[in-house]
Amino acid sequence: MPEYSDNPLRDPQDRRLPRIAGPCVLVIFGVTGDLSRKKLMPAVYDLANRGMLPPGFGLVGFARRDWKNQDFAQVVHDAVKENSRTPFREEVWEQLLEGIRFVPGTFDSDESFSKLKETITELDEARGTGGNHAFYLSIPPSSFELVVSQLKKHGLTKRDEGGWNRVVIEKPFGHDLESAKELNDVVSSLFEPHEVFRIDHYLGKETVQNMLALRFANQMFEPIWNNHYVSHVQITMAEDIGIGGRAGYYDGIGAARDVIQNHLLQLLALTAMEEPTSFEASQLRTEKQKVLAAAHVPGNLSETTARGQYCAGWQGAEQVKGYLEADGVDPGSTTETYAAIRVDVDNRRWAGVPFYLRAAKRMPRRVTEVALSFKRAPHLPFTATDTEELGTNALVMRIQPDEGVTLRFGAKVPGTQMEIREVSMDFAYGGSFTESSPEAYERLILDVMLGDAPLFPQQQEVELSWKILDPVLEHWASLDEQPQSYESGTWGPQSAWDMLARDGFAWRRP
Ligand code: BG6
Repeated sequence: MPEYSDNPLRDPQDRRLPRIAGPCVLVIFGVTGDLSRKKLMPAVYDLANRGMLPPGFGLVGFARRDWKNQDFAQVVHDAVKENSRTPFREEVWEQLLEGIRFVPGTFDSDESFSKLKETITELDEARGTGGNHAFYLSIPPSSFELVVSQLKKHGLTKRDEGGWNRVVIEKPFGHDLESAKELNDVVSSLFEPHEVFRIDHYLGKETVQNMLALRFANQMFEPIWNNHYVSHVQITMAEDIGIGGRAGYYDGIGAARDVIQNHLLQLLALTAMEEPTSFEASQLRTEKQKVLAAAHVPGNLSETTARGQYCAGWQGAEQVKGYLEADGVDPGSTTETYAAIRVDVDNRRWAGVPFYLRAAKRMPRRVTEVALSFKRAPHLPFTATDTEELGTNALVMRIQPDEGVTLRFGAKVPGTQMEIREVSMDFAYGGSFTESSPEAYERLILDVMLGDAPLFPQQQEVELSWKILDPVLEHWASLDEQPQSYESGTWGPQSAWDMLARDGFAWRRP
């Protein structure tokens, strides 16, 4: 869709200009879920507040609740007040409110889908949406088939003249390669590839997009971004929280399926890929796919992977229960809450450079980062004691929460002696920009409405990621034993530390 065609004064090449969505209806299935309350509804409001939603916008909630429009509006209102990023403004809310509707029902009810059709048609007319509809499936994948077939049956996927229909799906995109393909068959039986938007919310994060800016807008990093200089890469996604009330989703899924298959492998792809010809979706995907196709977990999987499960411990000053004691978790569960894998990328740039990926709950702190560690200088014209405190040079892209970039290198300690110690040079968003970063979901929902695809993984990337992970999951399943336990509030199981030690490295403690 030509985003700027409505305004002849805008230069379509100028990507600094704010992008504003055209008129449309956003239908959210699963509107009573956590994601909707914490992220989706607040993001819609934040977009409205920033003037990025058109007046002709409608929001429809669909769920099994006996609600009227005003009840749902109250739910949205509360979610916005509680979780939106930008301040609450009555006039913005009033305008949003005019387009809010609710359709009660179950996914198998024809009556409810007829009502949904009526509601959307009414909104199309009342709000002049031009027949543009986005269907956001914030529901378990097991319900995708039913919902998608109901949309079809009730004429909600027809492409009217000038209008579009898009479907937005949340991970998990399957639980292995085979199920990912099956899921895709369901969705693609009704929607064309360009109408399917798979959300990996990490790609909507400002700091993740900045990885492209850092790598491809600068001259100084590229020459060292390869196996001549980099010794290894560590990609960490550590969370201090446990699984909270999400046992129903998490148990049986685990850390590798939950976030390595998607967020962490996407971070790896952005770190390792070649420069795309442009930031067009197709170009970006081509480069990411090339890297993922070249990546695999090498060797003996007992040595190149590690998994753990948290037991009781301390999270700061709070004493917390172990995973197996959490409500809803099977007491004999072998689900991992810590997963680490080594990934090798078999191409000229990266041969010999291990990428270590780890994701875990109940770590000492919340931090996501991509750290490139560099080789030692080939010769040090110092005595051994001069450089005792010189670590390895590192470039760390701090994705969250302390967003920025750190460069670590050695410097002379002031004084008449010669002593070299590790120091940091820091870029922090807060210190350099006055603009605050939008939430990932703001960016991604806006992109769905604009039909802008670069930040959404395609099916092929999903399948390539499962190809990397499936052997690991099969290996773990074949062990038929509990993952190694680690105390809550510590940096994971011993086996993960051993895994790096065998290669002569140690995990960072960010
Ligand atoms: C989700 C995972 O994709 O990402 C959750 O399902 C995880 O388990 C969450 O907690 C973390 O997101 P963020 O943006 O807080 O890093």
